[in-house]
Amino acid sequence: MVQHLVWSEEFSVGSEDIDSQHQKLISLINWLSTEVTHKTPGTIEHLLNSLAHYTVYHFGYEEELFRKAGYPDAKQHQQEHTAFIDRILVIRERFEQGSEVDLEALAVYLQQWVVRHICISDQKMMAWLRNNACNEARGA
Ligand SMILES: [Fe+2]
Repeated sequence: MVQHLVWSEEFSVGSEDIDSQHQKLISLINWLSTEVTHKTPGTIEHLLNSLAHYTVYHFGYEEELFRKAGYPDAKQHQQEHTAFIDRILVIRERFEQGSEVDLEALAVYLQQWVVRHICISDQKMMAWLRNNACNEARGA
């Protein structure tokens, strides 16, 4: 059994939009964690599709924000996103081909990745964006 990930205020990046997208992502990961025990094939397929679509949308949203602002660590941040999506796509393909998929390992990976990414990379990026917007506003 995989424990659920519980949202905490410490995960906040200071943007309601992005926080609520992160909460949605966490709820999808939690749902997948539940399926580690239930193993309902239709639900797993649906979840892998939802995760793939939602991460593409959410990462695109962040990338548009930081690209527009000229964030200096854009490339590294984007590489983290790509690695995450690739992992989901590889698992989805294996699942669709009928291969054995280690859902527990996937759920643990997704949980660990999302917390680390939010608390390190996203918070760093959002702090830079805020600072940059303030500097521009005061003409620095
Ligand atoms: Fe991100």
